Amino acid sequence: LENPRSTSEPSASTGEFTGFRAVFEAAPDGIVVVDAAGRIREVNPEALAMLGYDRDELLGAPVERVVPAEVRSRHVALRDGFMESPHTRGMGAGLDLRAVRKDGRQLPVEVSLRPCITPEGRFVIATMRDVSERKRLQNLGTGALRAAEEERERIARELHDDTAQCLAALLVRLELLQRSGQPEQRQRLMDEMHHDLQEAVEGVRRIARGLRPPALADVGVEAAIRSQVRSLFQLSPVEVTVELGRVGERLHPEAQLVVYRVVQEALTNVVRHSGARRVGVTLTLEGGEVVASVEDDGEGFDPEGLFLEGGGLGLLGMHERARIVGGYLRIRSSPGEGSQVTLRVPVQGGADA
Ligand SMILES: Nc1ncnc2c1ncn2[C@@H]1O[C@H](COP(=O)(O)OP(=O)(O)OP(=O)(O)O)[C@@H](O)[C@H]1O
Ligand SMILES: [Mg+2]
Repeated sequence: LENPRSTSEPSASTGEFTGFRAVFEAAPDGIVVVDAAGRIREVNPEALAMLGYDRDELLGAPVERVVPAEVRSRHVALRDGFMESPHTRGMGAGLDLRAVRKDGRQLPVEVSLRPCITPEGRFVIATMRDVSERKRLQNLGTGALRAAEEERERIARELHDDTAQCLAALLVRLELLQRSGQPEQRQRLMDEMHHDLQEAVEGVRRIARGLRPPALADVGVEAAIRSQVRSLFQLSPVEVTVELGRVGERLHPEAQLVVYRVVQEALTNVVRHSGARRVGVTLTLEGGEVVASVEDDGEGFDPEGLFLEGGGLGLLGMHERARIVGGYLRIRSSPGEGSQVTLRVPVQGGADA
């Protein structure tokens, strides 16, 4: 009997390699061979694993079976065109290509096509690579980037609207002072300059504080939020109710920071936009989730309309932050009805942790 392995090994140092079937079977990319009529004629194990089918289920089936329904008819037309004048190419470069699995789920894939002419006729070989992990990382990356970008915008605006204004006023008064000979006017200008300078210093301190969050790991997210509330509302007539359960320790440090930042942005919005008389901040544990909520009785707004107009970097940043830690943000508001911002974040290690 012949050694069964001899078919997949060079028969001699100069001999012909005959293990093509084994190469096809072992290829790390999914390979689908399609005939001129668009039927699947061969498919390798990697492709079967990606698509969740058995080999007999796909042999002879139209290749459109693994193409999303909404692009099927277009795919048939493109496929016919390709058979007329076949050439090597990547499929839908820059497009979001998806393969449909047997269970109906769609898999992000990258596909390359190559024509192949054999004595049995014309075929197209499609190689297919699963890119879902890469897609996921890309999405995470853009989310984090956008959050950072939004942070920078906020700092720029605060520096511009706050600190730079104070310094500009200071400059104007200094020039007046240099030209003024009247003692009372000079005294008044100096008092005003003193005030401007104080505001500028306070502004810079506030920006620095906002940039560097308190060491959440040391003080806990609850205490950090309390201190945030104090510094935002100590001089305001708004009535604040704070109910914070000890939930921070159930959260990953990154998720704690997200809770802190989202509450910070929501409270800042209340101060800046709502005209509310009452604000409630709560932190609770519900099932496997930490729920942070900021509710005000102010003038409210239309979150949908805002999104459609593409406005609201602060709100956008909140959504992105929530998404980065697998959480979910919900904003309920309508004009005249107050606003409620609710963040849900899964606890570390799941519901039973
Ligand atoms: N609690 C609220 N009450 C009333 N209006 C709100 C409230 N929160 C947000 N808004 C409205 O939604 C808009 C968008 O808020 P968002 O935080 O995204 O941006 P912003 O506060 O204007 O700017 P920033 O990028 O500095 O946060 C606000 O300009 C305001 O009109
Ligand atoms: Mg805001």
